[in-house]
Amino acid sequence: MMKEEIANVKATALKDIAGADNMKRLEEVRVSTLGKKGTLTRVQQGMRDVPASEKPAVGALLNEARNTISAALDERMRELQRRLDEQSVAGIDLTLPAATLPGGGLHPISLVREEAVRILRRMGFCLADGPEIEDEWHCFDALNTPEDHPARNEKDTFYFDSGKLLRTQTSTVQARVMESQAPPVRIICPGSAFRRDAIDATHLSAFNQIEGLYVDREVSVCDLKGTLEYFLKALFGDETAVRFRPHFFPFTEPSFEIDVQLQAAGQAPRWIEIAGCGMVNPAVFENIDKKTGKQLYTGCTGFAFGIGLERLAMIRWGIRDIRLLIENDVRFLAQFQ
Ligand code: DAH
Repeated sequence: MMKEEIANVKATALKDIAGADNMKRLEEVRVSTLGKKGTLTRVQQGMRDVPASEKPAVGALLNEARNTISAALDERMRELQRRLDEQSVAGIDLTLPAATLPGGGLHPISLVREEAVRILRRMGFCLADGPEIEDEWHCFDALNTPEDHPARNEKDTFYFDSGKLLRTQTSTVQARVMESQAPPVRIICPGSAFRRDAIDATHLSAFNQIEGLYVDREVSVCDLKGTLEYFLKALFGDETAVRFRPHFFPFTEPSFEIDVQLQAAGQAPRWIEIAGCGMVNPAVFENIDKKTGKQLYTGCTGFAFGIGLERLAMIRWGIRDIRLLIENDVRFLAQFQ
């Protein structure tokens, strides 16, 4: 009797398993056969009435049935899963190479800025900052730039109706730092500057500079030359020749332009103008003291410098047209990754 029942339960279960065409149905078969109230479990409960002599044989049959059914359930589950997997990738060519993820990178201006900042910080300069929308005092008056100076012209500077302007140079930060702290000062300020220039291969109306200012007692032209020569050699290589040419800036006296001698591949070495600098004009210190009402700067000495970052990038990578730096053409930018 019991043996027959086992055989029946097994046969039915195997048939149901083979006929289950989804996971839910298969699970129902498992529960209704092997579960607590399942058919096989119920048959198993009849064991107590089986004569002792037959118990081993019936027990073995029960075990065999349970194992066979379990194995059939597992196998059917794998099969159904395989079918689901196949359906989910139907029509997709898994042998196609994966699409590459475009990697990001820093813009060449960021790269030269970070490198310049890293060198100057190592030399003891701290970062300072100032607004891009400025007043005339910080941009011109404090820096000893007379009313009739061409840079103040409406043709050269973006003015707002309020009288404020877009700073034409990062030198504004010199005035801002000095009016807010006592000497000594040792700062650099990377940032944007704006001029009403027509855009061409060497001019943009929005560009980037790094300004530097060092003020203390008895700072001399030697400090200026030593600092900037060291900086430019760290940037362009130890062998780079650096020269200082007399020039004029209202906020420095004496003033210089700095050239570095560089050699592009296959060309003769050339002197290239790279920065402006000079000893801070005593008139600037007096302007600051007059504004703050404190006598902190009169009698100090110092030097200042300003470097154009687009120019640095163009020299570094032999970029011929400055406009490439703002066009965001990935074919150009991807070369710097
Ligand atoms: N502000 C100047 C410019 O935009 C650059 C410059 C020259 C900055 C000499 C300085 C300096 O601090 O001393 O052309």
